[in-house]
Order: sequence, then structure tokens, then C-alpha cells
Amino acid sequence: MAAALRAPGLAPDLVLHAPSRTELALDPARPAALRRCLDACAPTVVVNCIAASDVDACERDPALAHALNAALPAQLARAARACDARLIHFSTDYVFDGTLRRPCREDDAARPLSVYGASKLAGEQAIAAADARHWIFRVSWLYGAARANLAERLLDPANAGCTLGLDNDRVGVPNPVQLVAHEVAHCITTQAEEGDTPEDGLYHLSCRGATTWYAFGRAFLREAVRAGRLAPAHLPRLQPLTEPAADARPARRPAWSPLDPQRYECCFGRSMPRWESAIRWALS
Ligand SMILES: NC(=O)c1ccc[n+]([C@@H]2O[C@H](COP(=O)([O-])OP(=O)(O)OC[C@H]3O[C@@H](n4cnc5c(N)ncnc54)[C@H](OP(=O)(O)O)[C@@H]3O)[C@@H](O)[C@H]2O)c1
Repeated sequence: MAAALRAPGLAPDLVLHAPSRTELALDPARPAALRRCLDACAPTVVVNCIAASDVDACERDPALAHALNAALPAQLARAARACDARLIHFSTDYVFDGTLRRPCREDDAARPLSVYGASKLAGEQAIAAADARHWIFRVSWLYGAARANLAERLLDPANAGCTLGLDNDRVGVPNPVQLVAHEVAHCITTQAEEGDTPEDGLYHLSCRGATTWYAFGRAFLREAVRAGRLAPAHLPRLQPLTEPAADARPARRPAWSPLDPQRYECCFGRSMPRWESAIRWALS
């Protein structure tokens, strides 16, 4: 089993196990291997961040999308139930078709436009059917840590003076992963300390507001300069992209998919910031 870590933001007596791909031995045909992996650390909570998250690649490989986004969460939910752990899983705003012109709520009809969205919706449904304790957090438009992402591109001095094209058609809510991680750590700690937990089910874990990637980029750069993270001389130029330039891609994306966090806020006793003020999480 991977080294057990103390996790910043979690209660001091909680220990984090982060098994490697080899240790997880993911294979839908061999669920016993995953069960053994979970049994070895006897978890209280299982947090599933695994996904086939490349939306266009899912269109080309629906079998992989289904295996990682639907079959694996189902398998994890059954394994979590067997060791009496709670499963925390992440889903997406791409389960919606973007036709609502207000922030989407948990009970709005999901009508995915892509293989990715459909496979994530199937994962949600499989977890709900598995009768395990679970929270599914739908998140949207993540940015701001390790992997290639927009925040990193915007802050890269190598892009000084370059023109970066950003989608200005689709509307959603950008969320810094640091804030999402902070919220999830709080949920886990509260469960451990109080034992009085919000009910199982689906929650929209999202900042408030609505914007486009282009408007987000402009706000992010303003804040980065103000916070001293980027010299004015290193600013890239931003160009708004509209269809078809922004959408000549294999997968269809919802045109309007902000998530409404009200249920999450009420049930978990939290208050989510607007996306503009959340930018500081990615810059801190
Ligand atoms: N990114 C977004 O904007 C966004 C928006 C809405 C919802 N979400 C959801 O948020 C969650 C996290 O997304 P993300 O963008 O952080 O995804 P990501 O960066 O692509 O990370 C996916 C993770 O899955 C692991 N993984 C992929 N294939 C695997 C395999 N065959 N076996 C074992 N592990 C495998 C990867 O492991 P390695 O590290 O070893 O590669 C990686 O840790 C997902 O549920 C996604 O659907 C993301």
C-alpha cells in the first residue's frame, strides 16, 4: 500500500492513502483486486478522482470512457459498501445540454451531448444504485494546479505578448481545484468529527456566477498582476473565439452550464464565493 500521508486541511488524526495505478489494479473483470486494495487500508472515505476526462478523446474511445467513468465508479461503490466506507465521487456540468438559461440544479433533467457526459451520468446512476454511502459532487471548468491548464498558460512568462485564443461563446463557472479540494477536505473532516452528515446524493460544488473562458482570462490576468504573480510586461494578449473556431472539436459541449451550489451550501453549511473572488485560490 502507498505511504500513508498526513493531509493538510484534514483533521490531524485522518490519514491519506494514495494508491498508485499498480496498487489499484483496475480491472472490471477482477473486482476482487480493488476490494483487496481497499481492505488493506480500511478506509472511512474513498475519494475517486479517476476519470477519462479528455472530452474529445472519449468521443473516439467510448469503451474507455464507459470503463473509467461508469463501470469503475460502480465497482468502487460496491467495494466501499463492503468495507462500510463513504464514496466521494466527482461528476460534471457536461451531463446537461445547456438549454436552461439559469444555473443548473441537481434535479434538473440531465441530457448529455457527448460520450463523456453520458458516461459520467451513467457513473452517477450506478453509484446511486449501489446502495453505498456516497456524495457525488458535480464540478465544472477546473483550473489551477499541476496538470496543463489555463491558469498555468496565463501565468507563463513564455507567453508574454503572444495571442491566446479563448472561447467566448460558452457560459459556465470556472473553479480553482484548490477551492474544490478545500471544500472536500472540510466535508470529510466534518463527517469524521461530527458524525452528523448530509444525506447521500448529488451536490453541485461550484462557485457562483457565470462567465466565458475569455472573460475569465481577462479577470485572471488583472488579478495576477495586482497580486504580483505576473509582471505587466509578461502579459499575453487574449483573443475572444466564437464558433466555429472554438467548437471545431469532436465532442459537443453545453453552451450554458453554470451549476447552482445552493443545495450544497444548505446541506453542508457552506458559502461558495463568486468565481471572480475564487481566483485568489489559484494565485495563493
Ligand atoms: N477538469 C475539468 O474541467 C472537469 C470539469 C468537470 C468535472 N471534472 C471531473 O473532475 C474529476 C477530476 O478531473 P480532472 O480534470 O482532475 O481529471 P484528470 O486531470 O484527467 O485526472 C484523471 C485521473 O485519473 C487517473 N486515471 C486515468 N486513467 C486511469 C487508469 N486507467 N487507471 C488509473 N488511473 C487512471 C489519472 O491518473 P494519472 O495521474 O496516473 O494519469 C488522473 O489522476 C473527474 O471526475 C472529471 O470528470 C473535471
